[in-house]
Amino acid sequence: MSAIDAVSELTEALPRDQRGRPLHDLRISVMDRCNFRCPYCMPEATYGEHFTFLRNDERLSFDEIERLCRLAASLGVSKLRLTGGEPLLRPQLAELVARLRRLNGITDLALTTNGVLLARHATELREAGLDRVTISLDTLDPALFHRMSGGRGALDDVLAGVEAAQAAGFPNGVKLNTVVQRGVNEHTVTDLVERFRGTGIVVRFIEYMDVGNRNDWRREAVVPSQELVQRIHDRWPLRAVPPKYPGEVATRYRFEDGAGEIGMISSISQPFCGGCSRARLSSEGMLYTCLFADHGTDLRHPLRQGASDDELTRLLRDVWLRRNDRYSEERAERHSKPSHKIEMHYIGG
Ligand code: GTP
Ligand code: 5AD
Ligand code: SF4
Ligand code: SF4
Repeated sequence: MSAIDAVSELTEALPRDQRGRPLHDLRISVMDRCNFRCPYCMPEATYGEHFTFLRNDERLSFDEIERLCRLAASLGVSKLRLTGGEPLLRPQLAELVARLRRLNGITDLALTTNGVLLARHATELREAGLDRVTISLDTLDPALFHRMSGGRGALDDVLAGVEAAQAAGFPNGVKLNTVVQRGVNEHTVTDLVERFRGTGIVVRFIEYMDVGNRNDWRREAVVPSQELVQRIHDRWPLRAVPPKYPGEVATRYRFEDGAGEIGMISSISQPFCGGCSRARLSSEGMLYTCLFADHGTDLRHPLRQGASDDELTRLLRDVWLRRNDRYSEERAERHSKPSHKIEMHYIGG
């Protein structure tokens, strides 16, 4: 067999879904709990003292996560992102990072966190091989921040986390995620831009989405990205730049004056399902092929019933081959909603 034949055979072995999309990214929720109660994700009224989270033995172990990631890499996954709830609540997370770093085929290993515990862990995560960190930060107004975290977070702790992440020197950098809601934090968007322009940190503004079933999402609460781009452009001229990779979640804009870039994640106004190559693994081992899925595939059961690598790989491949999700596009076309979507804190966004 020639080298070219060998490559094309390998490529053919990589599954594509019903819409021709490859599997490139796996987002892994390592912890369903969170130390915040952001009203758009885990409203206190539902996630109060009496809410039952998973037991430790219900969450996938590091061995199980590592094994699934190794098998996913054999199907084309090259990018892994650890999420929660809050992933830094998972004890010894750096050990998992070190294990995933050693897997063949993984070129990008990232973490999405609320940042509160990051000052404590940034250096060990960096040393374990984490490539980059994304920190959620919705506003720089301390009182509003406190309210938006459900009364549990202190802005200064998150800012200390951002600083520690920058000092740790993650090779692929630090990003911030800001969910923008009409009438809540939209007026603080330019403060964030001003503060982080020129620091090397990329701020991404996210249109408020209808994830889960508990956040009382209303279309009127969404601030379309174009409106923000215009507002920011009026003050600091921007130029659109092409995506870094096909299917990139954020649309990128560079400051004309060279002070770096920002991103817009416009799942509501400009859905990006066409290039979506993401699968999501929940903390209890359910595999979902869309952020808005109403059902998933249980991988924990076969894992714990002694399934072989071949059997698990076939299961992963079959799930991907059957995939036909395009929820955000359907939302834009005003189709009906799924009856019961998976909650955000189980799959980390
Ligand atoms: P990069 O690799 O840095 O581009 O990260 P990312 O944007 O894929 O991940 P991150 O965890 O920072 O997510 C940012 C926001 O985009 C969150 O609000 C996610 O819920 C949202 N998001 C990520 N992937 C998808 C997706 O496939 N569909 C939709 N609708 N939203 C997504
Ligand atoms: N809409 C948009 N983004 C959300 N996130 C959480 N809930 C929502 C929502 N309803 C964001 C978090 C985090 C990322 C993973 O998802 O702020 O940055
Ligand atoms: Fe907020 Fe993220 Fe925690 Fe959800 S998982 S409550 S968005 S910090
Ligand atoms: Fe992918 Fe579903 Fe998001 Fe569309 S809505 S981009 S299919 S995760």
